[in-house]
Amino acid sequence: MSGDVQNDRSAGTSEEIPLTGGNVSTVVRVGATVRRNTGPWTPAVHALLKHLAAAGFTGAPRTYGFDDQSREVLEFVEGECGKYPLASHWTTDEVLVTVAAMLRMFHDAQIGFVAPTDMQWRSLGPRPPDTEVICHHDAAPHNVVWRPDGTLCMIDFDLASPGARIYDVAYSAWTWTPLFSDHDSQTLGWRYPDRARRLRLFADAYGLLPHDRKRLVQVIRSRIVDHIEGIRRMAAAGEPAFVRIVRNGHLKRPMRDLRLIDHERDVLEHALS
Ligand SMILES: Nc1ncnc2c1ncn2[C@@H]1O[C@H](COP(=O)(O)OP(=O)(O)O)[C@@H](O)[C@H]1O
Ligand SMILES: [Mg+2]
Repeated sequence: MSGDVQNDRSAGTSEEIPLTGGNVSTVVRVGATVRRNTGPWTPAVHALLKHLAAAGFTGAPRTYGFDDQSREVLEFVEGECGKYPLASHWTTDEVLVTVAAMLRMFHDAQIGFVAPTDMQWRSLGPRPPDTEVICHHDAAPHNVVWRPDGTLCMIDFDLASPGARIYDVAYSAWTWTPLFSDHDSQTLGWRYPDRARRLRLFADAYGLLPHDRKRLVQVIRSRIVDHIEGIRRMAAAGEPAFVRIVRNGHLKRPMRDLRLIDHERDVLEHALS
């Protein structure tokens, strides 16, 4: 990125304000931009973000390249990022439906996007068999910013990589319905979500096809297993952020979620039928 553009984007200030809320990256705000540490996957992510912006999709930040410290430079998305325990306005049906619609638009906006073959995506595990789109893979409340105008925007595309649409739907439906126990839901900000009804709302708002509705609960279960195994794999490889996630006990809740889904499978599947 050129120095001029960088200074413009910084709105005359070079003050670096640390942004916390994530578990993995080092992120600071500089004026109207954020600066994040990069990985071999960043060029692929930028290619995707550029395509999305050109397609008119507003649910992702714009990318401005790299700064002189080799950090990526992204649009700072004004608004409120999801933070646990979530405030009550994050837990409404309206937000659930908006997220599902945003995810659908994210996937649909990729028509015509040809993933650069010389670039690599980050991956926590083996490439999934069905690769219809580039999935976000982590579109949970902590990676969504609610803008002052009421629109939502996903951030943190580091895990974006090829996958099936239903795989992204599964992750978001898991984390927004949410498919957590009553106790865990309350700890994280939901009251007593009617899980079956809200899961159906999500599937409806995404426009999931009948064949996918039938297998959604099963795919959510597999998605959680992949999440747990992926984090364990990265921790075993010595990646400090993932070692911390495991050490801090952050895999315990997903393990409980698997048990919940096994217990409630019939009622969840019935709601989707
Ligand atoms: N483009 C952005 N616009 C506004 N805030 C951002 C942006 N990117 C990151 N943030 C803020 O920084 C925090 C951590 O960033 P994130 O990209 O999610 O890192 P991590 O990989 O550690 O999860 C987020 O919770 C959010 O508050
Ligand atoms: Mg994040």
